[in-house]
Order: sequence, then structure tokens, then C-alpha cells
Amino acid sequence: MTEQVKVAEIPAAAAVNGHAALITELQEYRQRIAQGGGPERVKAQHDKGKLTARERIARLLDEGAFREIGAYRVQRHTDFGLDKENQPGDAVVTGFGKIDGRRVCIFSQDFTILGGSYSEAVGQKVTQIMDLAMAAGVPVIGLNDSGGARIQEGVYSLGAYGELFWRNTQASGVVPQISVILGPCAGGAVYSPALTDFIIMTKGTSQMFITGPDVVKAVTGEEVDVETLGGAMAHAAVSGVAHFVTDDEDQALALTRKLLSYLPLNSLEPPPAIEPSDDPWRMETLLDTIVPTNPNEAYDMQAVINAIFDLDSFLEVQEYFAQNAIVGFARLHGQVVGVVAQQPMVLAGVIDIDASDKIARFIRFCDAFNIPIITFVDSPGYMPGVHQEHGGIIRHGAKIVYAYSEATVPKITVIPRKAYGGAYVVMGSKYIRTDLVFAWPTTEIAVMGAEGATNILYRRQLKEAADPGALRAQLAKEYRDRFSKPYAAAAAGAIDDILIPSETRPRLIAALELLRDKRASSLPKKHGTMPL
Ligand code: HXC
Repeated sequence: MTEQVKVAEIPAAAAVNGHAALITELQEYRQRIAQGGGPERVKAQHDKGKLTARERIARLLDEGAFREIGAYRVQRHTDFGLDKENQPGDAVVTGFGKIDGRRVCIFSQDFTILGGSYSEAVGQKVTQIMDLAMAAGVPVIGLNDSGGARIQEGVYSLGAYGELFWRNTQASGVVPQISVILGPCAGGAVYSPALTDFIIMTKGTSQMFITGPDVVKAVTGEEVDVETLGGAMAHAAVSGVAHFVTDDEDQALALTRKLLSYLPLNSLEPPPAIEPSDDPWRMETLLDTIVPTNPNEAYDMQAVINAIFDLDSFLEVQEYFAQNAIVGFARLHGQVVGVVAQQPMVLAGVIDIDASDKIARFIRFCDAFNIPIITFVDSPGYMPGVHQEHGGIIRHGAKIVYAYSEATVPKITVIPRKAYGGAYVVMGSKYIRTDLVFAWPTTEIAVMGAEGATNILYRRQLKEAADPGALRAQLAKEYRDRFSKPYAAAAAGAIDDILIPSETRPRLIAALELLRDKRASSLPKKHGTMPL
């Protein structure tokens, strides 16, 4: 499976002029570089179900598109036997190339050389590629497979990480950064992927943790295996660190290509539109009946999204984390949009700490990269409870308001059903400068649900009533009749139009077309203080 370097024929003129030996020497050098850490270590890599750094690049980029740079760089340290480790290129392969004909910069850590450890020389190669990416305005993809900071180098390898973290931060919001984790990513090394926009992990072969199981046991006494501690599903479903999880490396690389197809090369460009193939007038009648008239009954918001956006275009981000919220990219008549929604089937679509983080981060990414945001609201509000309050639902929940308020991309909101209390205001309401807000006939906008409101408003009457149950039901019905339809909100100007649900696709396409060239700016400032 090891990639072979093609050996070009030496032109006769070169032989005559005595250049043949020089070119042969270069070709031999190239062959040696291409072998990475040698056949044994390559075999060990394959035996673990992993590809080599170069094989990964070859599979990710368009065929023959990779242009390597820095392949001859050698590390200069001598402590702890490093004087014998002079593999050209050191433990990373860097360069640029194309994916679907669009330019990218890439680095791919080579585990077959000193465990892919991050050295001064590795750091210089990676930061050079990041500088090139920022100058050229193209995405950076990092293929991570490393034992972390090169232990023998001490401050030099730590400093190299510091340089990388600084670059990740400078590049944030300028060019998309994607981290694909294909092996270990341990210690402080995890903070580089964490500073990038998306993390993709493979099941079984990738791990991320700040300290491994042994340290965990020594410090906290907990016994845990690497997969449970920092495997792909742990980060996809529990910590929220990973945005995507795949079964193997091929899937991870294919997903990277797909993700890039939704992203602009940089923050000055629009996202890539494609020739639309789906009917812009497609009106799915299932939408007209999908929202149950019983407010306590759930329905699948994924079905709503799939019916409205271009067929099969929805790419969900953080699918397994905070499933009461849904975020992802889709296409609407060929144009890329960011979709934010609540999922009534999970915790009734309530907004909790994790959902707040998930929604806010996605909105900020979309805003930084000129991706319009379309929001679907169905939420009873923020999650009550001691656990949530003490966990900081106030500061986490505030992120959603901050992100929507700060975003200047086109913003369009549809409210299929409940928009209660805080959920109504923060989830793309007009007051935080959403451009257009649409209701469905099932839309309910109220300060809170009928039962809760009745108990507060009529506490005394209910206490004194001969039949409190009957009175509560009657009062709740009166409240619901008042607020369970969108007309009062529309009369107040809080809604721009009430749609028959099946009309939503063509109406969103028209709204997006109107707003395509929207320009909006905020007050000049260094930066705000986002709640964290
Ligand atoms: C130098 C390293 C290395 C490292 C691995 N190697 N990690 N060399 N620095 N950090 C070398 C090994 O010595 C070995 O060399 C080869 O790479 C392959 O490693 P193995 O252990 O044989 O592989 P494997 O069994 O697959 O285990 C992989 C591993 C393990 C789980 C990653 O190597 C490991 O635990 N490494 C140390 C992880 C770590 O604690 N790193 C520091 C994190 S702190 P030979 O010659 O024998 O083949 C950190 C701070 C960053 O990164 C701070 C930034 C702010």
C-alpha cells in the first residue's frame, strides 16, 4: 500500500552534461522520503488499520494534485539519541493541492516517524503551511496521528505547539480549518484541533484526551479504557468535542471532501453554489399535517428539514451531541445555508447548556464564512433545574442570543410550533435583527406553556375553587386559544407572514434570493465579550 514515487527518465542531455548523477541523487532522496519511517513501521501502521500520512493525502486530494513542500527539512536536536533520527521531512508531510478542483493546504502527521511526535522542525513545517493558507486564502486540513510533543526536545517542541495554537487562532474566521483525527491526539496537542472549526474522528483508531488512562487513575482513581475516555463516540455524543464520527479512515476522508463542498475558501468569498437539480417549487404536503395539534405530541424536525431543503443535501453537524438541537449545512436551490433547529422528539426541543453551545458555535461559524442561517423554532424554552442553573445555563444560554445578534449574514426564521419565552426571543426573532420571520398556522408564541401560566396567573382562584382541576383546564384552554395561533404575533408585527407549511420551500428560496447580497455591519470595536 506504500505509495511509490514515480522515477522520471533522465533526459539524454542531462547525462551528456554530467547532470545525471545529480538527478539520480535527487530521485533517490525522494524515494527515501516517500518511505516514511520504513517498511516495518509502515506495516505496523497498516496492521492497526491505519493508512500512512502520504496514503491519506493521496486519498483525500484530487488525483495527482498534491504538491509537497518542506520534504527535505531535518530536525536538528541531539539529546536522548535524536542525533540518530535524521529522517528528511521529519514526522509530518506538508503541502497543498486540490479537492474537487478547489485549493487547500494540508499537513499529515507521520506516525511511522517517532510516533508522529510534534517537534520544532515539524512545527516549522506546519506553521509555514498555515501561513501560506492564510496568505492564499484557502482552507487548512490537518490529518492528526501523533504521540504529542516530542519528549526529547523539551521547550522546543512545546514552543512549536504554541506557534501552532497562535496560527490556529489567527486563521479562525479567515480560512476554514478542519482537523481529522486518525490516531492518538494526546496532552496539550488536543488544543490545536479544538481551536479549529471542525473535528472529524474515526471509531476505534482515534483518541483525544488531555491525560491518558494511567494519569486519570493516578489522579482521580477512576479506571477507564482509552476508547471510553477519549474515543470517537465519547467526543461525538458526550463531550461535544468531535463534530463528525466515521467508521474508518476512508469515510473520514470522504466526509472531509463533502464538508468542504459547503464551505467557501475564505471569509471574503461566498460559499460554493451548485447548479440546482431539485424543483424550487417542490411543495411537500406532508408538512401541512406534520405538526400535531396536541402541543405535547412530538414530531421529527429532521423530516421537516429533509422536505424543505434540496433533496439529500442536509449534512448534520454534531449529530450525536445535544440531540434536542439540530445544526448542519444544506442547500436551498443550490445555495449553501446553515440550518439551526430544535428537535421536539428529544427533550421536547428544550434549550439546555449543551444545545446552547452547539447552536451558538454553529451560528458563529456560518456568520464568519458568509453562510445564511435558516432557523426552525419549536421549543418550550430553556431547561429548568438545579443541575442546569448550577452548570451555568445563564452564561451558556446567553451565547445563543449573542451569536444571533452578532451575525450579519441573511437570517430567516420559521416557527413550526412552540416559541415559548426565552426560546422565542433568542432563536432568531425579529428583535435580534432576523431579516424575515415566518409562522405556520400551528405556531404558538407565548411567555410560557398554558399549564405553567395558569398556575401563576390564577393561583388564588385555583386555591379557592370547588373543583380546581376543572377550573385549571378551562383557564388553560382560554390561554391556549389566545396564544396557540400566530395571528396575535403577526398583528404585533413580530411575524412577517403566515405560511401554509408546504409553501415553505419556495418561500424560503425567494427570501434567500432577496437577501443574497445583504450587507450589514456592527459598531466598530476590537471584539466583544462573548458569554462563555
Ligand atoms: C517522542 C514518541 C512520542 C513522543 C511516541 N513516540 N510518542 N517519541 N515523543 N511524544 C515514539 C515511541 O517512542 C516509539 O518509538 C514510536 O513513537 C511509536 O510509539 P509506540 O509507543 O510504539 O506506539 P503505540 O504503542 O501505538 O502508542 C502510541 C502512544 C504512545 C499511545 C501515542 O506512544 C504514547 O503514549 N506516547 C506518549 C504520549 C504522550 O504522553 N505525549 C506527550 C503528551 S503531552 P520507537 O522508536 O520505539 O518506535 C503534550 C504536551 C503538548 O503533547 C503541550 C502543548 C501545549
